[in-house]
Amino acid sequence: MSGFPTRRLRRLRVSPALREMLAGVRLSVGELIAPLFVREGEHLQQEIPSMPGQFQYSVDTALETIRRWSDKKLRAVLLFGIPDSKDPTGTEAWNDDAAVQRLAREIKKALPDVLVITDVCLCEYTDHGHCGTTKKRPDGCVDVDNDATLESLGLVAVSHAKAGADIVAPSAMMDGQVGAIREALDGAGFQMTGIMSYAVKYASSLYGPFRDAAESTPQSGDRRSYQMDFRTAGQDLMEAESDIDEGADIVMVKPAGAYLDVIAKVRQRFDVPLAAYHVSGEYSMIKAAASAGWLDERAAAIEITTAIKRAGADLIITYFAEQLADWLHG
Ligand code: PBG
Ligand code: ZN
Repeated sequence: MSGFPTRRLRRLRVSPALREMLAGVRLSVGELIAPLFVREGEHLQQEIPSMPGQFQYSVDTALETIRRWSDKKLRAVLLFGIPDSKDPTGTEAWNDDAAVQRLAREIKKALPDVLVITDVCLCEYTDHGHCGTTKKRPDGCVDVDNDATLESLGLVAVSHAKAGADIVAPSAMMDGQVGAIREALDGAGFQMTGIMSYAVKYASSLYGPFRDAAESTPQSGDRRSYQMDFRTAGQDLMEAESDIDEGADIVMVKPAGAYLDVIAKVRQRFDVPLAAYHVSGEYSMIKAAASAGWLDERAAAIEITTAIKRAGADLIITYFAEQLADWLHG
């Protein structure tokens, strides 16, 4: 095969028409999932300082926001709840009248076409801020009690399904959580409620702004005994495979931008719908640089989310969802 001067790759880039025709990877609004934080109270819309443009809402203002998103053709929301009271096991997470459950019911009543996905975890609801019930190990260290946590996660998932969630999204990174939730849902008659598992979730500094938003920073220690180590390249497929075997309908890689290799690997190996979570820190970095005038926010957000799709993600969870909907105009 001959190269230059016979082959000139620039020939394919010389006109906007050619570039448009050959732009095979295009983001579309219908594949975006918009995260939303909801708390108790009324008429609240409190901006999250580390995430400009993102808010903690009460149920009423959340519903209005989701109505606006739906008018812009966004199809799906991912709900996170912030309770007024926390305890060691996070019991408020499966209170049928807590904010997430009430909002899910309201969405299903007012906007039945909006896909309601709920985050299933305990870190917002436990007073210590870990993703499950804790116990002391023989060496004295405090650790999350995996199997006790599975029972709680099952209760949370059923409570969300009862409220109308179409899909539950377990994010606690407990071994066996997808299987436990599938069993709990089926046992309660929710065979058709889907599971989008945070299957390949790394312990990441990029969750920092989210923990401000969700008030879920661990009071002591960190999440490295359950979330994956970013230095390890060999457990991503095992994590994905376990969740698929346990019944996950959609698997997720998180974070997204710095983990495109992982997205591509999972895509190549499994024929399963794949989501990627462009997380809070990835959002805040673009916002901060843009507000300093250091880069073009719109161009950067579109480039990075398109790259996430190019790597193989079918669905993208991103705080830029509404802005992308505006930019891509439906
Ligand atoms: C809770 C949860 C986290 C995120 C989603 N669900 C934080 C964490 O694991 O500490 C992160 C989302 C983001 O940073 O945008 N389990
Ligand atoms: Zn958690």
